[in-house]
Amino acid sequence: MRVTQRRPGFANPSRFLPMTIMPSLPNSSRLALRLSCLALFCSASAVFAQKFEGLALTPPMGWNTWNTFAGNINETLIKQTADVLVTSGMRDAGYVYLVIDDTWSRKERDAAGNLVPDPVKFPGGLKALGDYLHAKGLKFGIYSCAGDKTCGGYPGSWGHEFQDALSFASWGVDYLKYDWCNRGTADARDAYKRMRDALYAAGRPVVFSLCEWGQNKPWEWAGEMGHLWRTSGDIYDSYDGRKAWEMGWKRILDLQYDLVPSIGADGINKFAGPGHWNDPDMLEVGRGGLTLAESRAHFSLWCMIAAPLMAGNDVRTMTPAVRAILTDKDVLALDQDPLGKQGYRVLAEESHQIEIWVKELSNKEWAVCVLNTGRTAADLTVEWSRLSFVLQGVYDLRDLWAKQAAGDTSKPYTARVEAHDVVLFRLTPRP
Ligand code: GLA
Repeated sequence: MRVTQRRPGFANPSRFLPMTIMPSLPNSSRLALRLSCLALFCSASAVFAQKFEGLALTPPMGWNTWNTFAGNINETLIKQTADVLVTSGMRDAGYVYLVIDDTWSRKERDAAGNLVPDPVKFPGGLKALGDYLHAKGLKFGIYSCAGDKTCGGYPGSWGHEFQDALSFASWGVDYLKYDWCNRGTADARDAYKRMRDALYAAGRPVVFSLCEWGQNKPWEWAGEMGHLWRTSGDIYDSYDGRKAWEMGWKRILDLQYDLVPSIGADGINKFAGPGHWNDPDMLEVGRGGLTLAESRAHFSLWCMIAAPLMAGNDVRTMTPAVRAILTDKDVLALDQDPLGKQGYRVLAEESHQIEIWVKELSNKEWAVCVLNTGRTAADLTVEWSRLSFVLQGVYDLRDLWAKQAAGDTSKPYTARVEAHDVVLFRLTPRP
């Protein structure tokens, strides 16, 4: 006897119609019915394969363990940090995602293949910790990796995506950073798509942060997978890197411009927008390797390029000056502007140690950031007429860090700017 194997699934959607209906219908109606079945079938499959929409209409903000603490993490640190995010005003300024990065799990999965939180670091377990964060008005972020091991050598989610997504959902996870170490020959799109689908199937809305370091041009495809994607390697707390292989924030900033070698608004910035952001990596604001001016400039420029803002300093011991930078409402408003445009560089003149970055805002306003790239203070002049390809007419100027009006764009503006510091303006068109 010949046995033909039936294909599982929904290969022919119209076969689900009652047999009695189809033969009694004229040909044209049959076709219409088949087509609507197909449409239903397609939209049903789409439901099973998408990211959660509407979760990151402006760049996500929060705090992440990695930059300061790396593997030295535990429940006490997380709870103390959560408390300070609230008392310092950071939560209310928008830093709501507290993300536990690499090294949080045991080195082995349990007998059923589940990830297990390290019982020494997190004796109360992650569900209780998630509850603690939620009770503080924060959201819970965690880290895993598309490879079979994380970058730190802990179990990765390769082959366990759906199982791990269920664990995350059961702990109340709201944000997943998903790394790219030890992935063998995996295809990046497939690997990230699989975790996206797993998160969706688990049913708990999760902001999905792709940490693929820009290796496969994620800006071209990751908008369908997640809400933000790293564009480069890891950031370090310096201006231009202390060692040859280290990337300080200025080198990473340059990369945002150089990755897609085209001019101005047609660079990598065009791939960012509400719900999908380029991620130039976390903030080093307030960390030891930066002067206060460098922290201020780094923060200003990350806001200019609509970067996700993940603080990485020890907020328990930060100075009032660092807190003031991180929570500055005027500057944060540039990053969080609802139009969601990523800014870009319009001028770089090494001989004059000046760079100018612009960002389009809602209501026809603009932000302009002037960076002193030199190692010494300098008088920097902005000739507004040179920006006439984006600015039309005359604008009133507000100096956002000095908190004062600064005239208008009808004549050049000159300011004394410290080494690696910025002047940051909001421009409002004259009626
Ligand atoms: C990679 C990521 C970092 C951090 C570490 C953890 O290097 O890019 O941001 O998550 O892994 O091991």
